[in-house]
Amino acid sequence: MEGVDCPVLGIETSCDETAAAVVRGRVILSNVVASQVDLHARYGGVVPELASRRHIERLVPVVDEALERAGVAVEDLGGLAVTCGPGLIGALAVGVAYAKAFAFAAGLPLVGINHLEGHLFAVVLAQGTFPVPALGLVVSGAHTDLVWIPEPGTYRVVGRTRDDAAGEAFDKVARALGLGYPGGPEIDRLAEAGDPHRVPLPIPLQDEPGYDFSFSGLKTAVLLALRKDPPPNPADVAASFQRAAAEHLTARTVRAARLLGPRSILLTGGVAANRLLRRRMREEAERLGVPLLVPPPELCTDNAAMIAQAGAFRLMRGERAGWTLGVAADLPLGDPYEFPLESGHKPA
Ligand code: KG4
Ligand code: ZN
Repeated sequence: MEGVDCPVLGIETSCDETAAAVVRGRVILSNVVASQVDLHARYGGVVPELASRRHIERLVPVVDEALERAGVAVEDLGGLAVTCGPGLIGALAVGVAYAKAFAFAAGLPLVGINHLEGHLFAVVLAQGTFPVPALGLVVSGAHTDLVWIPEPGTYRVVGRTRDDAAGEAFDKVARALGLGYPGGPEIDRLAEAGDPHRVPLPIPLQDEPGYDFSFSGLKTAVLLALRKDPPPNPADVAASFQRAAAEHLTARTVRAARLLGPRSILLTGGVAANRLLRRRMREEAERLGVPLLVPPPELCTDNAAMIAQAGAFRLMRGERAGWTLGVAADLPLGDPYEFPLESGHKPA
């Protein structure tokens, strides 16, 4: 049952969410996310080995639930999309091995999706097609990438972080403040009660040319500020850090937009759930006269609906993964990685 209107099942296991979703066209029929936050919280970060084991336990029931909630039988599906990188290698392998077995047993076409392309397709889910060329900022727990998109499916990274990812910085600062994991939402909340100008912190790379990002200097400045006697108010630290991070992300994006002249700016990834960042990007995009497209917060953080949507796009273009589809922890935005084996088998 292949075609434009057939539902696509998406599977996402690249980090600490076991997720499955069914999408038909731009309609989300189901979107199930089983978070592992409770499992990793006591360690203050994701433990890769534990994540893989939990994916093995949860994936089958999560997929069953996604199909059931969507009211879609396996025979009704038009294809399968699975995240094949970047991410935790063992966690990715669980999803890809499962998806290959599912596609083989059901005789369905399969595509491997780059997780970052998935984040960009959350914009398509939320807003429909975006005007191109577009400039996309993908800010997550592991990535801070500024991407030029001449057309959907074609990506050129114009800037990325030199050290920590934006989400990683939020999580590390949250930990230093004794907040829970993941730290981004905690800082977002605590910052509401703080003064963003109280703790002097540097806005990274302010006078530097280029489009790269950097968060390690800002993180170190926060750690040093926390050692002062008397220590600063935690809410002021959260607000001041959040302001510096949001200004940095916004300034570099605006700088690239001025040079490249996109017809839209996309903001996505877990950190795009941040309220200050959303507001600042909206203000600056308005000033540039370019529409800013941001998915709702629940589609910014990891989910499988975005993977299914990217999968529908690639399946429609006739793309198919072979049974040799592999996983890559550092998969760059581009074609899905395939091991150079000679097995000629292709999914139906
Ligand atoms: O995209 P995502 O769900 O997973 C990855 O692909 O990494 O991003 C997770 C990251 C975490 O670092 C989390 O702290 C951050 O997104 N995050 C936020 C907010 N919500 C999630 N950061 C800042 N403000 C938020 N409201
Ligand atoms: Zn992500």
